[in-house]
Amino acid sequence: LELGSGSFRWSAPSNIALVKYWGKKENQIPANPSLSFTLNQCKTITQLDFDPKATKGAITFEFKFEGEPKPSFHPKIQQFFERILPYCNYITDFHFTIDTQNTFPHSSGIASSASGMAALAVNIMSLERLLQPEMEDNYFWEKASFLARLGSGSACRSLKGSIVVWGEHEQIKGSTPAYGVAFEDPVHPIFQNYQDTILLVDKGEKQVSSTVGHDLMHGHPFAAERFAQAPQNLSLLVEALKTGDMEAFIRITESEALTLHAMMMTSTPYFILMKPNTLEIINRIWRFRQGTSIPVCFTLDAGANVHVLYPENDKATVLQFIKNELVGYCQKEQYICDAIGNGAQNL
Ligand code: PMV
Repeated sequence: LELGSGSFRWSAPSNIALVKYWGKKENQIPANPSLSFTLNQCKTITQLDFDPKATKGAITFEFKFEGEPKPSFHPKIQQFFERILPYCNYITDFHFTIDTQNTFPHSSGIASSASGMAALAVNIMSLERLLQPEMEDNYFWEKASFLARLGSGSACRSLKGSIVVWGEHEQIKGSTPAYGVAFEDPVHPIFQNYQDTILLVDKGEKQVSSTVGHDLMHGHPFAAERFAQAPQNLSLLVEALKTGDMEAFIRITESEALTLHAMMMTSTPYFILMKPNTLEIINRIWRFRQGTSIPVCFTLDAGANVHVLYPENDKATVLQFIKNELVGYCQKEQYICDAIGNGAQNL
């Protein structure tokens, strides 16, 4: 089938892991299964224009960020195309123009690699589907997640909503290290439209890239324990998601966040990615929770920002608390109100 020029446009959200992925094997295979909430507001929107080339055989593309050329992003995109080429040999038949924008502020400390790679991968799958119109829907989404994984591991959890598991786990039907799968079991209603308010504590450049971070788990003294613990925590978390046992949900979620940081603090070389304000916020969340019995808790990425997680029903009270007590610890008082979402969307 010979195609003319055309274009696709997709949005893909960020996601926040509750059970963390930290440590990987060859080919972006995770050392342990992870589970995340898909977000709703923090998204990348990517348009992919494709033009058939007279001379085929090489990967060629232009990349624009918010309409402007952005050479600093080229190596990451080039690497993505090289990694997916064995699974998408048609990509060298086209010249691509990629135009991308984020709904969240650039260099806010919110990683755009998950949403960015997911948005690019699903666009590529749209092209593949154009070449193979008989393609099954399942294949489309699984391969989109598979390709996103090759770009950035956690990106494979950004295609679907609202809860995604990546990595093999005996309790999760269809779970695999190859791509993320939506968690299909009925979840307790308290998690409906669950809120994630992201407090921007430090917008600085990451001290450690996640690539370096994952590598530090090779030869890490606690790696074996950690890789054994994660699937157990995933089991406990899945149980809490089904029953609405908030005490268990909070215990696992916060422990996972602190364990991620503990791994960084105990690797060689070691890193502290939290800031004093991160700890102030955590302590105030704990005090608020004790005082009110509202099941608000936190999780962290590989950085200083704090994700504040809480039920939609408590939104007014918690937002008031955040404004009164936590916003002062944010850089320029910045925070983003997000909630659990549905995954990539064709625009
Ligand atoms: O997808 P990567 O390689 O950027 O790794 C992400 C790792 C964490 O965000 C820290 C944890 C996770 O599971 O998302």
